Amino acid sequence: MVSSYFKVMHVVGARPNFMKVAPVQQALGHHDGVLQIVVHTGQHYDVNMSDIFFQQLGIPIPDVNLEVGSGTHAAQTAQIMTRMETVLLGQKPDLVIVYGDVNSTVATALVCAKLLISVAHVEAGLRSFDRTMPEEINRLLTDQIADLLFTPSQDGGENLIKEGIAKEKIHFVGNVMIDTLLRMLPATKPLWSELSQRLAISEKEYGLVTLHRPSNVDHSDNLLSIIRTLDEISQSLTLIFPIHPRTHARLKAEGGMQGFNARLILTQPVGYLDFLCLQQHAGLVITDSGGIQEETTILGVPCLTVRENTERPITVAMGTNILIGRDMERLKLEVDRILSNKAKKSGIPPLWDGKAGERIAAIVANI
Ligand code: UD1
Ligand code: UDP
Repeated sequence: MVSSYFKVMHVVGARPNFMKVAPVQQALGHHDGVLQIVVHTGQHYDVNMSDIFFQQLGIPIPDVNLEVGSGTHAAQTAQIMTRMETVLLGQKPDLVIVYGDVNSTVATALVCAKLLISVAHVEAGLRSFDRTMPEEINRLLTDQIADLLFTPSQDGGENLIKEGIAKEKIHFVGNVMIDTLLRMLPATKPLWSELSQRLAISEKEYGLVTLHRPSNVDHSDNLLSIIRTLDEISQSLTLIFPIHPRTHARLKAEGGMQGFNARLILTQPVGYLDFLCLQQHAGLVITDSGGIQEETTILGVPCLTVRENTERPITVAMGTNILIGRDMERLKLEVDRILSNKAKKSGIPPLWDGKAGERIAAIVANI
């Protein structure tokens, strides 16, 4: 019997995937004849790295969880591939949609390509041109084998064309992360009063920090030099630092945070709404995250990125983002500039308008 619906499988695994799948899944729900399933690889599994996002963003509970957990790159990627193959053979989707640049993204795309199942990549074309970054390998390989490539910014399309990807496969749709941000912003309003009291912070008078890139946190010297600088900055500006589990494990191995200034406040990773609320009211953000460079641009909050390069150059060209590299003197200097009201002006990149998910859904539903 020929099925009368078009079966779409969304595959997610790590924290930054969840805010990307939500708008696409919701927009596709408005199209008749589309059956959707959600598969979680289990790459991230702590409640505050995974479940909380499904609850807050209204993503359906995954139909399947591969429960791969943590491991080396090869072990994790291989586990996802092996388990995903069984699921794909059983589910027989017409299209699989993968998100971002994590190991779950490339592992799934590779299995689909071998099974001749069509794959769409949301957030295609971004390039840091730094192949020491594991995500850059994931991006390059996923884009080579994807059938449909949805780009968040025009540089994405230009990169893909240079890599020989056929023009017909590329669709400039805008930024799905921003869809989620704009949708959820009103829900953060009631949270500020409790958060600001609990953390003893006031509007614009604190910085928000996240760090998890292996290049920053896996090497003692790099990690300790950043932490010492944050400690110094916190003498004049309270810093809230929701700490990623990778970074937490590394800091623990270095002997923890004893002896640091009490105004460098470490917390567990927080849910999407709390984090969005904290970003919105912060005077500045210090980060090495990919997605946070984009969110700060939309929010108009100064962002200092502790990385040598970015796969999101539009946040530097048009947005609030400044690349600091690992120059800690520069970091202190830029913090001072922002505190003396000399932050750079910013604009909003094209199609970061809250409708990227709808554009993707319209293209998918037309197949
Ligand atoms: C992964 C992605 C990275 C993304 C980041 C977002 C890859 C190669 N890396 O990095 O692109 O920016 O997610 O947060 O896909 N851990 C826990 N609990 C969890 C998840 C992880 O304790 O729920 C710990 C484990 O010790 C694990 C370590 O964090 O070994 C790293 O997790 P992993 O998923 O391998 O990489 P991330 O650094 O999270
Ligand atoms: N985020 C969150 N809680 C936190 C830290 C980050 O909800 O404690 C959100 C953030 O708002 C953004 C996403 O997680 O939407 C970014 O994910 P992450 O930095 O883990 O990954 P990257 O974007 O670097 O791949």
